[in-house]
Amino acid sequence: MARTVNARSIGILTSGGDCPGLNAAIRGVAKAAIGTYGMEVFGFYDGFTGLVENRFLRLTDHDLSGLLTLGGTILGTSRYKPQRMPGPDGTTRDRTDAALDVYRRLNLDCLVCIGGGGTAKVALHLRKHGMNVVTLPKTIDNDIAETDVTFGFDSAMYIATEALDRLHTTASSHQRIILVDIMGHNTGWLALGASLAGGVDVCLIPEIPYQVDRIVEAVSARTVKGRRFSLIAVGEGAAPKSAEDAAKSDEALDHEAVTSASLALSLEKALGMESRVTTLGHVQRGGIPTPTDRLLATLLGVKAAELIAEGVFGVMVAVRGEDLVPVPLEKVAGRKRTVPMDHPWIQTARHIGLCLGD
Ligand code: F6P
Repeated sequence: MARTVNARSIGILTSGGDCPGLNAAIRGVAKAAIGTYGMEVFGFYDGFTGLVENRFLRLTDHDLSGLLTLGGTILGTSRYKPQRMPGPDGTTRDRTDAALDVYRRLNLDCLVCIGGGGTAKVALHLRKHGMNVVTLPKTIDNDIAETDVTFGFDSAMYIATEALDRLHTTASSHQRIILVDIMGHNTGWLALGASLAGGVDVCLIPEIPYQVDRIVEAVSARTVKGRRFSLIAVGEGAAPKSAEDAAKSDEALDHEAVTSASLALSLEKALGMESRVTTLGHVQRGGIPTPTDRLLATLLGVKAAELIAEGVFGVMVAVRGEDLVPVPLEKVAGRKRTVPMDHPWIQTARHIGLCLGD
Protein backbone atom coordinates (compact mmCIF):
# COMPACT_ATOMS: atom_id res chain seq x y z
CA MET A 1 0.00 0.00 0.00
CA ALA A 2 1.37 3.44 -0.90
CA ARG A 3 2.38 5.49 2.11
CA THR A 4 0.81 8.94 2.56
CA VAL A 5 3.42 11.54 3.43
CA ASN A 6 1.91 14.67 4.92
CA ALA A 7 4.80 16.99 4.09
CA ARG A 8 6.85 17.75 1.02
CA SER A 9 9.10 20.52 2.34
CA ILE A 10 10.37 21.18 5.82
CA GLY A 11 12.58 23.75 7.49
CA ILE A 12 15.01 23.06 10.31
CA LEU A 13 16.87 25.35 12.71
CA THR A 14 18.88 25.21 15.91
CA SER A 15 18.12 27.76 18.61
CA GLY A 16 19.42 28.69 22.07
CA GLY A 17 22.78 27.67 23.53
CA ASP A 18 24.61 25.12 21.40
CA CYS A 19 25.47 21.63 22.63
CA PRO A 20 27.13 18.48 21.33
CA GLY A 21 24.74 16.43 19.20
CA LEU A 22 23.04 19.24 17.28
CA ASN A 23 24.62 18.22 14.01
CA ALA A 24 23.75 14.58 14.63
CA ALA A 25 20.12 15.66 15.11
CA ILE A 26 20.11 17.79 11.93
CA ARG A 27 21.56 14.81 10.09
CA GLY A 28 18.96 12.42 11.55
CA VAL A 29 16.02 14.63 10.58
CA ALA A 30 17.35 15.40 7.11
CA LYS A 31 18.48 11.88 6.20
CA ALA A 32 15.10 10.42 7.05
CA ALA A 33 13.15 13.35 5.56
CA ILE A 34 15.06 13.24 2.27
CA GLY A 35 15.91 9.54 2.02
CA THR A 36 12.81 7.86 3.45
CA TYR A 37 10.07 10.40 2.83
CA GLY A 38 11.31 12.26 -0.26
CA MET A 39 11.00 15.71 1.34
CA GLU A 40 12.99 18.84 0.65
CA VAL A 41 14.85 20.22 3.67
CA PHE A 42 15.80 23.86 4.21
CA GLY A 43 18.23 24.64 7.04
CA PHE A 44 17.87 28.17 8.45
CA TYR A 45 20.99 29.92 9.69
CA ASP A 46 21.44 31.30 13.21
CA GLY A 47 18.22 30.09 14.76
CA PHE A 48 15.06 32.12 14.28
CA THR A 49 17.15 35.01 12.95
CA GLY A 50 17.78 33.14 9.70
CA LEU A 51 14.07 32.31 9.40
CA VAL A 52 13.04 35.95 9.80
CA GLU A 53 15.79 37.12 7.44
CA ASN A 54 15.17 34.39 4.85
CA ARG A 55 18.73 33.02 5.12
CA PHE A 56 18.88 29.29 4.52
CA LEU A 57 20.70 26.37 2.97
CA ARG A 58 18.86 23.73 0.96
CA LEU A 59 20.27 20.58 2.55
CA THR A 60 21.33 17.76 0.26
CA ASP A 61 22.70 14.36 1.12
CA HIS A 62 26.16 15.76 0.44
CA ASP A 63 25.77 18.37 3.23
CA LEU A 64 24.99 15.64 5.71
CA SER A 65 28.23 13.75 5.50
CA GLY A 66 30.70 14.12 8.37
CA LEU A 67 28.10 15.64 10.69
CA LEU A 68 27.61 12.86 13.20
CA THR A 69 30.75 13.55 15.20
CA LEU A 70 30.91 17.30 14.73
CA GLY A 71 30.35 19.59 17.75
CA GLY A 72 28.37 22.86 17.59
CA THR A 73 25.86 23.35 14.80
CA ILE A 74 26.57 23.78 11.10
CA LEU A 75 23.52 26.03 10.90
CA GLY A 76 24.63 28.38 13.67
CA THR A 77 22.36 29.36 16.53
CA SER A 78 21.12 32.41 18.43
CA ARG A 79 18.86 33.19 21.34
CA TYR A 80 16.67 35.62 19.38
CA LYS A 81 12.92 35.12 19.06
CA PRO A 82 10.79 36.38 16.14
CA GLN A 83 8.64 38.21 18.70
CA ARG A 84 11.63 40.31 19.83
CA MET A 85 14.16 40.66 17.04
CA PRO A 86 16.79 43.32 17.53
CA GLY A 87 16.80 45.99 14.84
CA PRO A 88 19.78 48.02 13.58
CA ASP A 89 18.91 50.89 15.94
CA GLY A 90 19.14 48.62 18.99
CA THR A 91 15.38 48.43 19.60
CA THR A 92 13.45 45.18 19.28
CA ARG A 93 10.57 44.48 16.91
CA ASP A 94 7.99 41.73 16.57
CA ARG A 95 8.93 39.98 13.32
CA THR A 96 6.54 37.04 13.57
CA ASP A 97 4.97 38.09 10.26
CA ALA A 98 8.36 37.95 8.51
CA ALA A 99 8.87 34.40 9.84
CA LEU A 100 5.43 33.35 8.58
CA ASP A 101 6.07 35.00 5.25
CA VAL A 102 9.30 33.04 4.66
CA TYR A 103 7.61 29.81 5.77
CA ARG A 104 4.81 30.36 3.23
CA ARG A 105 7.02 31.55 0.40
CA LEU A 106 9.15 28.40 0.67
CA ASN A 107 5.97 26.32 0.81
CA LEU A 108 7.09 24.65 4.00
CA ASP A 109 4.84 22.07 5.59
CA CYS A 110 6.62 22.07 8.95
CA LEU A 111 9.48 23.74 10.84
CA VAL A 112 11.68 21.56 13.05
CA CYS A 113 13.06 23.62 15.94
CA ILE A 114 15.93 22.03 17.83
CA GLY A 115 16.30 23.73 21.18
CA GLY A 116 15.44 23.95 24.86
CA GLY A 117 12.47 25.25 26.83
CA GLY A 118 12.77 28.75 25.34
CA THR A 119 12.71 27.32 21.82
CA ALA A 120 9.59 25.29 22.64
CA LYS A 121 7.93 28.54 23.74
CA VAL A 122 8.79 30.24 20.44
CA ALA A 123 7.63 27.19 18.49
CA LEU A 124 4.30 27.29 20.32
CA HIS A 125 3.98 30.98 19.47
CA LEU A 126 4.54 30.19 15.77
CA ARG A 127 2.12 27.30 16.00
CA LYS A 128 -0.56 29.68 17.30
CA HIS A 129 0.11 31.81 14.21
CA GLY A 130 -0.56 28.91 11.89
CA MET A 131 2.84 27.27 11.40
CA ASN A 132 3.30 23.51 11.74
CA VAL A 133 6.15 22.87 14.16
CA VAL A 134 7.96 19.95 15.81
CA THR A 135 10.70 20.46 18.41
CA LEU A 136 13.57 18.29 19.61
CA PRO A 137 14.87 18.52 23.20
CA LYS A 138 18.50 19.62 23.33
CA THR A 139 20.48 21.16 26.17
CA ILE A 140 23.41 20.35 28.40
CA ASP A 141 21.15 21.34 31.34
CA ASN A 142 18.73 18.37 31.01
CA ASP A 143 15.98 20.68 32.28
CA ILE A 144 13.26 20.33 29.63
CA ALA A 145 9.83 19.33 30.93
CA GLU A 146 8.18 16.07 29.83
CA THR A 147 11.31 14.26 28.62
CA ASP A 148 13.46 11.86 30.63
CA VAL A 149 16.60 13.27 29.09
CA THR A 150 17.89 15.78 26.56
CA PHE A 151 20.71 15.32 24.10
CA GLY A 152 23.87 17.26 24.91
CA PHE A 153 23.59 16.35 28.58
CA ASP A 154 25.63 13.17 28.38
CA SER A 155 28.49 14.95 26.60
CA ALA A 156 28.51 17.76 29.16
CA MET A 157 28.48 15.18 31.98
CA TYR A 158 31.48 13.53 30.41
CA ILE A 159 33.39 16.81 30.15
CA ALA A 160 32.50 17.93 33.69
CA THR A 161 33.37 14.53 35.15
CA GLU A 162 36.70 14.45 33.36
CA ALA A 163 37.45 17.94 34.72
CA LEU A 164 36.60 16.75 38.23
CA ASP A 165 38.95 13.79 37.84
CA ARG A 166 41.74 16.16 36.89
CA LEU A 167 40.94 18.59 39.70
CA HIS A 168 40.97 15.70 42.17
CA THR A 169 44.66 15.00 41.67
CA THR A 170 45.75 18.62 41.93
CA ALA A 171 43.49 19.31 44.95
CA SER A 172 44.90 16.27 46.68
CA SER A 173 48.53 17.14 45.87
CA HIS A 174 48.17 20.64 47.36
CA GLN A 175 45.79 19.73 50.20
CA ARG A 176 43.36 22.32 48.92
CA ILE A 177 39.65 22.86 48.64
CA ILE A 178 38.71 23.31 44.98
CA LEU A 179 35.29 24.70 44.15
CA VAL A 180 34.10 23.93 40.63
CA ASP A 181 31.41 26.00 38.94
CA ILE A 182 29.20 23.78 36.80
CA MET A 183 26.52 25.05 34.38
CA GLY A 184 22.88 24.02 34.60
CA HIS A 185 20.70 27.09 34.14
CA ASN A 186 19.30 26.99 37.66
CA THR A 187 18.82 23.24 37.76
CA GLY A 188 21.18 20.76 39.38
CA TRP A 189 21.18 17.87 36.90
CA LEU A 190 24.63 18.47 35.49
CA ALA A 191 26.28 19.39 38.79
CA LEU A 192 24.74 16.44 40.64
CA GLY A 193 25.30 13.89 37.89
CA ALA A 194 28.93 14.88 37.46
CA SER A 195 29.41 14.99 41.24
CA LEU A 196 28.19 11.43 41.61
CA ALA A 197 30.27 10.25 38.67
CA GLY A 198 33.33 12.26 39.71
CA GLY A 199 33.19 11.43 43.42
CA VAL A 200 33.19 14.98 44.78
CA ASP A 201 32.73 15.67 48.48
CA VAL A 202 30.16 18.47 48.45
CA CYS A 203 27.64 19.29 45.72
CA LEU A 204 25.54 22.44 45.85
CA ILE A 205 22.50 22.64 43.58
CA PRO A 206 19.79 25.29 43.20
CA GLU A 207 17.09 22.88 44.35
CA ILE A 208 18.71 22.61 47.82
CA PRO A 209 19.63 25.90 49.51
CA TYR A 210 22.97 25.38 51.25
CA GLN A 211 24.25 26.22 54.72
CA VAL A 212 27.92 27.15 55.05
CA ASP A 213 28.16 25.35 58.41
CA ARG A 214 27.14 22.05 56.79
CA ILE A 215 29.91 22.42 54.22
CA VAL A 216 32.45 23.26 56.93
CA GLU A 217 31.35 20.15 58.87
CA ALA A 218 31.69 17.94 55.78
CA VAL A 219 35.21 19.16 55.01
CA SER A 220 36.24 18.95 58.68
CA ALA A 221 34.96 15.37 58.86
CA ARG A 222 37.22 14.52 55.95
CA THR A 223 40.20 16.11 57.69
CA VAL A 224 39.54 13.99 60.78
CA LYS A 225 39.68 10.92 58.51
CA GLY A 226 43.04 12.07 57.15
CA ARG A 227 41.70 13.36 53.82
CA ARG A 228 43.32 16.74 53.52
CA PHE A 229 41.58 18.03 50.40
CA SER A 230 38.01 18.45 49.19
CA LEU A 231 36.23 19.00 45.90
CA ILE A 232 33.06 21.09 45.95
CA ALA A 233 30.80 21.25 42.89
CA VAL A 234 28.79 24.47 42.73
CA GLY A 235 25.84 24.16 40.39
CA GLU A 236 24.75 27.27 38.53
CA GLY A 237 22.08 29.02 40.61
CA ALA A 238 23.00 27.34 43.93
CA ALA A 239 22.27 29.79 46.75
CA PRO A 240 22.55 29.96 50.52
CA LYS A 241 19.58 29.03 52.69
CA SER A 242 19.33 32.08 54.84
CA ALA A 243 20.38 35.67 54.95
CA GLU A 244 22.81 34.65 57.69
CA ASP A 245 24.41 32.13 55.37
CA ALA A 246 24.51 34.65 52.57
CA ALA A 247 26.36 36.99 54.89
CA LYS A 248 28.73 34.19 55.94
CA SER A 249 29.57 33.31 52.37
CA ASP A 250 29.77 36.88 51.19
CA GLU A 251 30.21 39.85 53.42
CA ALA A 252 30.23 42.61 50.85
CA LEU A 253 29.11 41.37 47.46
CA ASP A 254 25.99 40.12 45.73
CA HIS A 255 26.02 36.52 46.96
CA GLU A 256 24.15 35.00 44.03
CA ALA A 257 26.60 36.34 41.50
CA VAL A 258 29.76 35.28 43.31
CA THR A 259 28.73 32.16 45.20
CA SER A 260 31.87 30.11 44.71
CA ALA A 261 34.40 32.94 45.08
CA SER A 262 32.84 34.15 48.30
CA LEU A 263 32.27 30.63 49.55
CA ALA A 264 35.94 29.85 48.94
CA LEU A 265 36.90 32.83 51.11
CA SER A 266 34.62 31.82 53.95
CA LEU A 267 35.82 28.22 53.84
CA GLU A 268 39.45 29.40 53.95
CA LYS A 269 38.58 31.48 56.97
CA ALA A 270 36.64 28.75 58.78
CA LEU A 271 38.94 25.84 57.98
CA GLY A 272 42.36 27.39 57.46
CA MET A 273 42.71 25.54 54.15
CA GLU A 274 43.80 27.04 50.87
CA SER A 275 40.95 27.25 48.35
CA ARG A 276 40.72 27.72 44.60
CA VAL A 277 37.81 28.20 42.19
CA THR A 278 37.59 26.66 38.71
CA THR A 279 34.85 27.67 36.29
CA LEU A 280 34.22 25.08 33.60
CA GLY A 281 32.05 27.49 31.59
CA HIS A 282 31.50 26.92 27.89
CA VAL A 283 34.02 24.08 27.76
CA GLN A 284 31.01 22.04 28.87
CA ARG A 285 29.17 22.86 25.63
CA GLY A 286 31.98 22.37 23.14
CA GLY A 287 33.49 19.53 21.18
CA ILE A 288 32.39 16.15 19.93
CA PRO A 289 29.25 14.45 21.22
CA THR A 290 29.52 11.22 23.19
CA PRO A 291 28.22 8.03 21.54
CA THR A 292 25.13 8.23 23.77
CA ASP A 293 24.33 11.74 22.51
CA ARG A 294 25.02 10.83 18.88
CA LEU A 295 22.62 7.92 19.20
CA LEU A 296 19.92 9.89 21.03
CA ALA A 297 20.11 12.86 18.65
CA THR A 298 19.86 10.52 15.65
CA LEU A 299 16.89 8.64 17.11
CA LEU A 300 15.10 11.90 17.95
CA GLY A 301 15.83 13.38 14.52
CA VAL A 302 14.51 10.37 12.66
CA LYS A 303 11.42 10.24 14.89
CA ALA A 304 10.72 13.91 14.12
CA ALA A 305 10.77 13.16 10.37
CA GLU A 306 8.46 10.18 10.94
CA LEU A 307 5.96 12.29 12.92
CA ILE A 308 5.98 15.00 10.25
CA ALA A 309 5.35 12.39 7.56
CA GLU A 310 2.37 11.20 9.62
CA GLY A 311 1.09 14.77 9.96
CA VAL A 312 1.72 15.03 13.71
CA PHE A 313 2.53 18.67 14.51
CA GLY A 314 2.67 21.01 17.50
CA VAL A 315 4.69 18.54 19.55
CA MET A 316 8.11 17.96 21.07
CA VAL A 317 9.62 14.51 20.61
CA ALA A 318 10.20 13.30 24.18
CA VAL A 319 12.15 10.39 25.62
CA ARG A 320 10.09 8.09 27.88
CA GLY A 321 12.12 5.08 28.88
CA GLU A 322 12.89 3.22 25.66
CA ASP A 323 10.22 5.09 23.71
CA LEU A 324 10.15 8.37 21.83
CA VAL A 325 6.74 9.99 22.09
CA PRO A 326 5.15 13.22 20.83
CA VAL A 327 4.19 15.59 23.67
CA PRO A 328 2.01 18.67 23.00
CA LEU A 329 4.11 21.84 23.14
CA GLU A 330 1.63 23.36 25.61
CA LYS A 331 2.97 20.89 28.19
CA VAL A 332 6.60 21.83 27.55
CA ALA A 333 6.73 25.56 26.82
CA GLY A 334 7.62 27.76 29.78
CA ARG A 335 8.16 24.79 32.10
CA LYS A 336 11.44 23.66 33.60
CA ARG A 337 12.33 20.22 34.97
CA THR A 338 14.24 20.56 38.23
CA VAL A 339 15.76 17.71 40.26
CA PRO A 340 12.98 16.24 42.43
CA MET A 341 13.94 15.69 46.07
CA ASP A 342 12.94 12.02 45.86
CA HIS A 343 15.03 11.42 42.74
CA PRO A 344 17.35 8.39 42.93
CA TRP A 345 20.38 10.66 42.39
CA ILE A 346 19.52 12.62 45.55
CA GLN A 347 18.94 9.45 47.54
CA THR A 348 22.16 7.93 46.22
CA ALA A 349 24.10 11.07 47.14
CA ARG A 350 22.81 10.81 50.70
CA HIS A 351 23.68 7.11 50.95
CA ILE A 352 27.27 7.63 49.84
CA GLY A 353 27.80 10.62 52.14
CA LEU A 354 27.96 13.28 49.44
CA CYS A 355 27.17 16.51 51.30
CA LEU A 356 24.43 18.48 49.52
CA GLY A 357 24.91 21.53 51.73
CA ASP A 358 21.76 20.95 53.84
O1 F6P B 1 21.43 26.39 28.51
C1 F6P B 1 22.76 26.09 28.35
C2 F6P B 1 23.63 27.06 29.12
O2 F6P B 1 24.97 26.70 28.92
C3 F6P B 1 23.32 27.17 30.60
O3 F6P B 1 23.86 26.10 31.35
C4 F6P B 1 23.89 28.49 30.93
O4 F6P B 1 23.19 29.07 32.00
C5 F6P B 1 23.68 29.29 29.67
O5 F6P B 1 23.45 28.37 28.64
C6 F6P B 1 24.83 30.17 29.27
O6 F6P B 1 24.41 30.93 28.18
P1 F6P B 1 25.36 31.79 27.23
O7 F6P B 1 26.13 30.85 26.35
O8 F6P B 1 24.40 32.62 26.45
O9 F6P B 1 26.27 32.57 28.12
